[in-house]
Amino acid sequence: SPIHALLLALPKCEHHIHLEGALTPSLLFELAARNNTTLPVDDLAFTSPESLRSRYEHFTSLDDFLHYYYIGMSVLILPSDFEALAWSYFQRAAANGVHHAEVFFDPQAHTSRGVAYSTILSGFNAARHRAHEELRMSTELICCFLRHLPPPDCLATFNQAEVQESFENGAVTGIGLDSSELDFPPQLFGELYRKAGEQGLRRTAHAGEEGPAAYIANAIDTLGVERIDHGIKLAEDAELMQRVAESGIMLTICPFSNVLLRCVKSVAEVPIRKFLNAGVRFSINSDDPAYFGGYVLENYCAVQEAHNLGEEEWENICQAGIEGSWCTQERKEELL
Ligand code: HPA
Ligand code: ZN
Repeated sequence: SPIHALLLALPKCEHHIHLEGALTPSLLFELAARNNTTLPVDDLAFTSPESLRSRYEHFTSLDDFLHYYYIGMSVLILPSDFEALAWSYFQRAAANGVHHAEVFFDPQAHTSRGVAYSTILSGFNAARHRAHEELRMSTELICCFLRHLPPPDCLATFNQAEVQESFENGAVTGIGLDSSELDFPPQLFGELYRKAGEQGLRRTAHAGEEGPAAYIANAIDTLGVERIDHGIKLAEDAELMQRVAESGIMLTICPFSNVLLRCVKSVAEVPIRKFLNAGVRFSINSDDPAYFGGYVLENYCAVQEAHNLGEEEWENICQAGIEGSWCTQERKEELL
């Protein structure tokens, strides 16, 4: 259809994609074989890539997904594994018409298994270099902290010399907060975010995915975030919605993720129209494309099917995505 062609052609930015969530079942099994990784023997989902893929169609919650997500990434050991993972995502994203991608990674999920931070970064940076050279795609890395872990552990990771060096040399642009949301409110990480802000790092946090709208207000007030990842629960608080609209804070919405993790019943229930009417800025993203059945273009198309936006609305969404990106002003002008 003509609108599908428009959605493909629009210069898209992606702001909410966990690289570990781009690990397809086939790459997972390939790396497990190569690295001699023991996958769970008591879970029949791990019999084959196909059985794993069908298990992914029946997540019951964020935590049910995270269980598979953390097991899956245990196959990532060598720099070449991280490079293959990121490169496979960059190729898929470029084919979807993504010109600029700001990608999350979870260092604590790897360093806790004995994989060095420098191993992760050297692999990702090799893939980023290739994306720039071969796909003309710009990329930024966002270092996420796991909110189910004690805040002092997150601070210790943040303070590690090689992590600090990746901020100072510009390899990593900002920080994020992810993993289980309920019972782990944003204010627990106030000190981490204050330090990141003092160092001039960009800041975002997952909030209002499974958690209440109050967690969104909390992230804005106590973490100083300039973006909110997911944030769909914002629609339940009209006053806060107005505040977010006026602040220019951008939500990074992930429609397939919200459906697969049962935060909404269908893409039609994602409050796209409410956000447009209230003037809340947002981008549309894939979150964990290998787990949720679609890359960014499929998320755009599903929003179009369910919400029937106009051409100008789509152009405005993509323009807001460029303006809300964390690249240089010079790069933004190229993207426009
Ligand atoms: N929410 C929280 N943590 C995550 C997600 C998510 O959608 N994806 C990967 N880690
Ligand atoms: Zn996410």
